[in-house]
Amino acid sequence: IEATPEHPFLAGRHVLISAGGTRERLDPVRYLTNDSSGKMGTALANVALAAGAQVTLVTTAHQPVLPGIDVVAVSSAAEMADAMTAHYADADIVVMAAAVADFRPQAVADNKIKKQDSEMQLTLQLEQNPDILAQLGAAKTHQFLVGFAAETQDLLHYATQKLHKKHADMIVANQVGQATTGFNAETNAVTLLRPDQEPQPLELATKTAIAAQILMMIEQELEARGD
Ligand code: CTP
Ligand code: CA
Repeated sequence: IEATPEHPFLAGRHVLISAGGTRERLDPVRYLTNDSSGKMGTALANVALAAGAQVTLVTTAHQPVLPGIDVVAVSSAAEMADAMTAHYADADIVVMAAAVADFRPQAVADNKIKKQDSEMQLTLQLEQNPDILAQLGAAKTHQFLVGFAAETQDLLHYATQKLHKKHADMIVANQVGQATTGFNAETNAVTLLRPDQEPQPLELATKTAIAAQILMMIEQELEARGD
C-alpha cells in the first residue's frame, strides 16, 4: 500500500492528529512524562499528507514531518486539549495517537523544588488530566474519531471498553512493553476495533505501513457512511 500523488485517497479530507507524550510540569526545571516517541502519530500525519489530506498535527514530539503539515507544538495535556478542541470543528478525521498523561502535579512550583536534608521521601500530589478523546467523543458532530489503546495485558478487553466509553469510531489497540511494538519502536502490530465489527488485526510492519492501513480503513468507513 502506498500513498502517492497517484493514490490521493484522502483528497479533500481535513485530518487532525495528536502525537507524543505530554509533559506535566512540576517546577521550572522538571516534569513528568512517559515513553511515547510520537513516531506513530507523526507517521499518520505524514501518510495523510501524502494521501492528499489537509493535515494538522498537534504534537509534543520532534519527529520529522513533511512540509505542508500544519504543526501545532504543545507540551502539557491541557495545552493539547485546547489545541485539539480549537481544530475539531473543521476536521473530518481525528486521531488521538498521543500518550496523554493521566495525571499532572496539582500545583506547579514557581521555583525549583529544594531537597530538604531532613526529608528522606517526597510525596507529590497529582490531579487527573481531562480525557481529551472522551471530550471529543462527547462533542462529536460529523468527525470520524479514532483513539489508541496502549495496554500491557487483556488488550482487546480494555480496548473495547475504551471504544464504547469514549464514543470513538475506531480504537487502534496496541500491545506495549515489547521491543517490536508500541512506544519508540520502528515497527508496530495493532488490532483495529470498530463498533459492531470483527476486530481487524494488522500484522507487524513499519509504522508508516501501519499508518497507511489505518487511514485506508478510516476512509472506507467514511465512504460506507456516504461521506
Ligand atoms: N486519552 C486522552 N486523554 C487522556 C487520556 C487518554 O485523550 N487524558 C486518549 C489517548 O490519546 C488514547 C486513548 O485516550 O487515544 C486511550 O488512552 P489510554 O491511556 O490507553 O487509556 P485511558 O483511558 O487513559 O485508560 P488507562 O490509562 O487507565 O488504561
Ligand atoms: Ca492513560
